[in-house]
Amino acid sequence: MKFFVDTADVAEIADLAATGLLDGVTTNPSLVARTGRDMFEVLAEICGLVPGPVSAEVLATDLDGMLREGHRLAEIAPNIAVKVPLTWEGLQACRRLVREGISVNVTLCFSPGQALLAAKAGATFVSPFVGRLDDVAHDGMALIEDIVTIFRNYPSSIRTEVLVASVRTVPHVIEAARMGADIVTMPPKVLRALASHPLTDRGLELFLADAAKSGVRIA
Ligand code: E4P
Repeated sequence: MKFFVDTADVAEIADLAATGLLDGVTTNPSLVARTGRDMFEVLAEICGLVPGPVSAEVLATDLDGMLREGHRLAEIAPNIAVKVPLTWEGLQACRRLVREGISVNVTLCFSPGQALLAAKAGATFVSPFVGRLDDVAHDGMALIEDIVTIFRNYPSSIRTEVLVASVRTVPHVIEAARMGADIVTMPPKVLRALASHPLTDRGLELFLADAAKSGVRIA
């Protein structure tokens, strides 16, 4: 399973990329706006930090506008994945951009039917939003299960990767892995939380205390 982070915070991305555990980055207009910086500058810096895909979202909602912006975003770096919304116009933009060899992430997916259309449009990634479904009392992870099951029925024709988005918790990540989703994009704090367990901390404390008592040294 691939791990992406969902942030436009360059310092945070640099820190996580240095661990070698990061496979890619997703951004959206809200995350970029939060940095208060120029979007193109921020995206170029992020693309230089991670070798994997970096999603950058178009702002236009009409087909021509999305194509124009998609081309402009794709020029930033070879690892840009142009993000388009799951609308009729977005699906058409996806098809056209993918045919030109540009990676496309179809975002704001909330149903299996939408995911099927994204796959049909040849999307590189489809992003179902689990947290936002949970927020409105729907089962976000049930959507992931449906999409993964459906895509598995067509291994020779569907190449679209399921990129689980709007992740809020560690259990979201574990469930996505159990279901066989290809990628999870998560806030940095969730990625860091995957590594922590109170028994790990306590166990390490005890081992180090015993070692200190015995006076043993390694180097
Ligand atoms: C994914 O690409 C989106 O940027 C993101 O996961 C949205 O998450 P949110 O619902 O926490 O804003």
